[in-house]
Amino acid sequence: MVQLHDQTLRDAHQSVLATRLRTEDMVPICDKMDKVGFHSLEVWGGATFDACIRYLNEDPWERLNTLSEHLPNTPLQMLERAMNIVAYRNFPDDVVKKFIKLAYKNGCDNFRIFDALNDLRNMKVPIETAKKVGGHVQGSLCYTISPVHTVERYVEDFKELEKMGCDSLCIKDMAGMISPTRAYDIIKGCKDAGIKIPIDLHSHNTSGMTGMAYMKACEAGVDILDTSISSLTGATGQPPTESVTAALKGTEYDTGYDMELLMDIREYFNEVWDKYRHLHRSQALRLDPSVTMHQIPGGMLSNLVSQLEKQGAADKYDEVLKEVVKVRKEFGYPTLVTPTSQVVGTQSVMNVKFGRYKRITNPTKEYFRGMYGRPPGEISEEMYEMILGPDWEDEVIYERPASLLEPEYKKKKDELEDMGLLRKPEDVLTYTIYPDIGLKFLKGEVEAEFTSDQLPLEKPGEEKEVVPRIEYPYEGKVRVDGKDYRVKMRNEEKVIIDGKEYNVSVLFPDGQGPSKSKDKSKSKDAEPSGEETQINAPMLGTIIDLKVNTGDKVNAGDPIAILEAMKMENDIPAPKDGTIKTLHVQKGQDVKEGDQIATLVG
Ligand code: CO
Repeated sequence: MVQLHDQTLRDAHQSVLATRLRTEDMVPICDKMDKVGFHSLEVWGGATFDACIRYLNEDPWERLNTLSEHLPNTPLQMLERAMNIVAYRNFPDDVVKKFIKLAYKNGCDNFRIFDALNDLRNMKVPIETAKKVGGHVQGSLCYTISPVHTVERYVEDFKELEKMGCDSLCIKDMAGMISPTRAYDIIKGCKDAGIKIPIDLHSHNTSGMTGMAYMKACEAGVDILDTSISSLTGATGQPPTESVTAALKGTEYDTGYDMELLMDIREYFNEVWDKYRHLHRSQALRLDPSVTMHQIPGGMLSNLVSQLEKQGAADKYDEVLKEVVKVRKEFGYPTLVTPTSQVVGTQSVMNVKFGRYKRITNPTKEYFRGMYGRPPGEISEEMYEMILGPDWEDEVIYERPASLLEPEYKKKKDELEDMGLLRKPEDVLTYTIYPDIGLKFLKGEVEAEFTSDQLPLEKPGEEKEVVPRIEYPYEGKVRVDGKDYRVKMRNEEKVIIDGKEYNVSVLFPDGQGPSKSKDKSKSKDAEPSGEETQINAPMLGTIIDLKVNTGDKVNAGDPIAILEAMKMENDIPAPKDGTIKTLHVQKGQDVKEGDQIATLVG
């Protein structure tokens, strides 16, 4: 008998509905899903935590709690990114331990733990903690194709995970590119090597051959297969629960699930699918066998497309795709999964935009320092020198990266308490893991981009009043939807464009408002002189930190601001020595490519 691990409430909507499914659209079907007898249901972790607080104004901890109440009979699983937990950087041990404890307390039974680099050292603390609190631990290895990712290596690492105390194992094929033969060879290899604990295969439909891979996995002795209800599978989701159940019926692998019950569930999710129609994307529904050639997961591809569109470089898509393949090789063949997919993806975009390694992102430097873990394959000395400079050998670390991190939980707890925002211990983790958006959420400042009862939204093209975006309305100029207009501004709340009146809130960037012009003339003597250089945003993103104040002296290369773009942090460096005359942005401000960040003189 083979059992299914249903992914509908986590990976399915992460894959085809931009992770936006709301708890209130999950609860009504829980009763039926709980009756199927699934091995487990994945309902939490991965990108759902971020999406809850960023887009839905939902407390992820409450979601877990609610689902656990409504699904009393089925083990619930979370996807845990080892030391990255549910975010994109390494956290210290105390934070990881606390998170797992509270996840278990709130109803998470099973922990699927993986590391983007398959660095087992990064998986040790979460595995031990989840075991200690009483959870079931599924040790996972990311599947990819490369000269260093051999069947033998997978079998060896799985053996090691069994030794580390895991209760089951998982081949995590997040890109949906595993071939029937590879699935068979790895699973058979594990069984032949004497691995006793159950093996789960997680895959996506992307390549079009996943159904065949599932059948071969059965023949090799797989114990669990990951599926999702057909309504939310598309091409980037999982093979359909109903189809796999039907395919195995009457064979020795029969799941024994009630097909009629599954059809009821399908009917429910068909309605959900229609309701979220504003998120339907044809790319998510189209199979893409090219994944077997370039090894780039569908999620990363669609991310790259939307990032390139936003950066006004959609025509560079093919070039970036080729660059990703090159960069991945130069990085020692990391699997392209969060967060390494973002590191490789962002660096590839930079390489195409500015020339190869002309601009090196902070995460790329961190990766080469070993701060994500040990790269799976060799990296040349030339690459190390190019990224980290001639003294690269002093910069690279060889220990487990998180062992270099200071404990954070207590400090964050105190901070939250001082702000009067500590309502429950879980809040400390929300704040620690997502300091900016998490804090905004805890302050109650996040607005849900939609609520379930507002859905379905209008279809694109349907009549809807468009409110123009008005930016920087100062010096008599406003920019509306990217076009500049000269306007007369009677006061600071209203502007008239083409005879129509708009309300605006006028936010003058520091030192730029007309009201401050008097102060400016007063302090003219103190103003630094010399040639002015504008420092502009290299790409679209959010200014998450400013490293300088007006009047600060800087040297060429010093960071002026940190720009978060494509989920990665990038320094914006000073192009030359000088003094900061003006800062045009504030922390938290969104910027487009070419927007002024600062004026430098000297
Ligand atoms: Co997946």
